[in-house]
Amino acid sequence: MRIVSPISAGPSSQAKILDGKTVRDQIKSEIRPRVERLRSHAGRAPGLAVVLVGNDPASESYVRSKTLTAAELGIHSEQITRPAEITTEALLAIVQELNGREEIDAILVQLPLPAHIDTQRVLGAVLPEKDVDGFHPFNVGLLTMGRPGLKPCTPAGVIRMLKHYGIAMAGKHAVVAGRSDIVGKPMSLLLLQENATVTICHSKTPDLAAVCRTADILVAAIGRPALLNANHIRPGAVVVDVGVNRIDSRTEAERIFSPERLAVFDKNGSLLVGDVNPVDMARLASAYTPVPGGVGPLTIAMLMSNTIEAAERRTGVA
Ligand code: GUN
Repeated sequence: MRIVSPISAGPSSQAKILDGKTVRDQIKSEIRPRVERLRSHAGRAPGLAVVLVGNDPASESYVRSKTLTAAELGIHSEQITRPAEITTEALLAIVQELNGREEIDAILVQLPLPAHIDTQRVLGAVLPEKDVDGFHPFNVGLLTMGRPGLKPCTPAGVIRMLKHYGIAMAGKHAVVAGRSDIVGKPMSLLLLQENATVTICHSKTPDLAAVCRTADILVAAIGRPALLNANHIRPGAVVVDVGVNRIDSRTEAERIFSPERLAVFDKNGSLLVGDVNPVDMARLASAYTPVPGGVGPLTIAMLMSNTIEAAERRTGVA
């Protein structure tokens, strides 16, 4: 049997929970003194601008959390909200204006944008030095080359989480299920940079379960509720579940949840689930990120970390 990580719990012992809130709090505590230092040396707070188009409730909720977290850390933030009917040209003009403002260090355009907007043009218009999502082709290029630069927040948070819990990546087989530009692709590159052997698979991979079962570290980022189950998890693997899916059908909930969580479903009428079946994950993994409370809390913390990094670079205060 292969030993998969320093956490050597087998499938029959208690799986270690990788708690995102603990790591988030540590990231925040590292940011606070950096904000103070920037204030005293550059005479201003770091500045983040978030552009929100339309009124998708999930996007509105994310943006609200970003604004609140920025305020809590003393980061200046602005929210620019425009109706879903905005044109690509008008959105480009907003980005250009933010690019030109000295006191704005960080620009984030909340995704997804409405279908008629040319998303790639908009993301490509953000100055790379202010691109705290790491979505600009220049930053994607740096990431691919393993050079320093702003890195996408969710995958960077996953690496931070694994390091926090002492989970070795070098020489391990990491399987990333999902190939999105936001998570799957950058996740694979970051794991490669940590010297993992990386396999990317996705919804069109024949026998996805067989590929996932070869993982020492399995990262699920496909975006389908509880798609991965006991067939996909090698006993003792470390499982990172990046998915966030809301379940509001009781039949679906019965398929997925333990009796205790079903009671919560019945109380609230819905529940969040990741891309991995939570019962199977807790039973088989040696360590795993729960949903909610695993990867979720890290994304915004990493956004704040990228914002202070961009501000330090732009002002020369480090
Ligand atoms: N929508 C969902 N996740 C993200 C993210 O990480 N960045 C942006 N800009 N939009 C998102």
